[in-house]
Amino acid sequence: MNYWEYIHVEELLALQGGFDDDESKVGNDEALFIVVHQVYELWFKELLHELDRVIQLLEADDSHRSQHTLKRVLTILKVMVAQLDILETMTPLEFLSFRERLDAASGFQSDQFRQLEFVLGVKSEQTLRRFAEGSRARVALERRYRAPTLWDAFLHYLLREGYDVPQSCLGRDVIAAVEPSPDIQRIVVDVYRRDPKNAELCERLVDLDEGIQEWRYRHVKMVERTIGTRRGTGGSAGAAYLRESVGRPLFPDLWEIRAQL
Ligand code: HEM
Repeated sequence: MNYWEYIHVEELLALQGGFDDDESKVGNDEALFIVVHQVYELWFKELLHELDRVIQLLEADDSHRSQHTLKRVLTILKVMVAQLDILETMTPLEFLSFRERLDAASGFQSDQFRQLEFVLGVKSEQTLRRFAEGSRARVALERRYRAPTLWDAFLHYLLREGYDVPQSCLGRDVIAAVEPSPDIQRIVVDVYRRDPKNAELCERLVDLDEGIQEWRYRHVKMVERTIGTRRGTGGSAGAAYLRESVGRPLFPDLWEIRAQL
């Protein structure tokens, strides 16, 4: 075994186009755009894997390792947000020089991003139906659509840690959005006051929530500075559509309790 075989360098380098010895007509800026998106898809893959692991560890009541894995998730998320700086070196005119070639392509169609949303509790049947039946993406999304979310795993974990989590929350419809619950807020306040181990875990979930919101904010700002009020290639209203989800929390209870502490 050697380095290039181990990480499949040849296959990896054949996936971009646009560099000197390449026959494709892709220019510098478009090549950068493709590389950045490919790197994102790899990070999405890694994040999904790590988040599944966090859920498994919570199910096994392994608080220490679930926090350790969450820390890794958060570190990846920070790197992902920072990567937007690279695309922001591209001016609106540079982007426009190849935008037509995207046709209807858009990050909007990233099934891995949707999988991330699903595991974090942002699910939509409409989103699911956009992917062809039987495709890899559709199969993966269907599985996550019906599966409990990270928040559900956390609530069941709290029950096993001795908290009086109501049955209505434990048995909630895992497809529905996570709604704020005064019962859970009462429990979380108790956790913060009396249970440092699990208070830490709550803080990591807040970090995750804030990190996703940070990504959405930075992405929409990049979109505003690059295409302004133009519509998206994916068919949405563009920045106006993206702004709707900025600042929307994943775990509302963890934010609601701040003023009560
Ligand atoms: C110059 C760079 C970029 C521009 C102008 C841009 C533009 C847009 C626009 C306008 C949308 C709305 C959907 C539509 O296309 O109608 C969108 C959605 C999206 N983009 Fe980007 N994008 C850029 C870079 C990126 C990068 C690097 C990623 C990383 C994978 C990404 C991932 C996404 C995702 C996941 C969505 C769906 C968000 C949602 O539905 O809430 N975008 N983008």
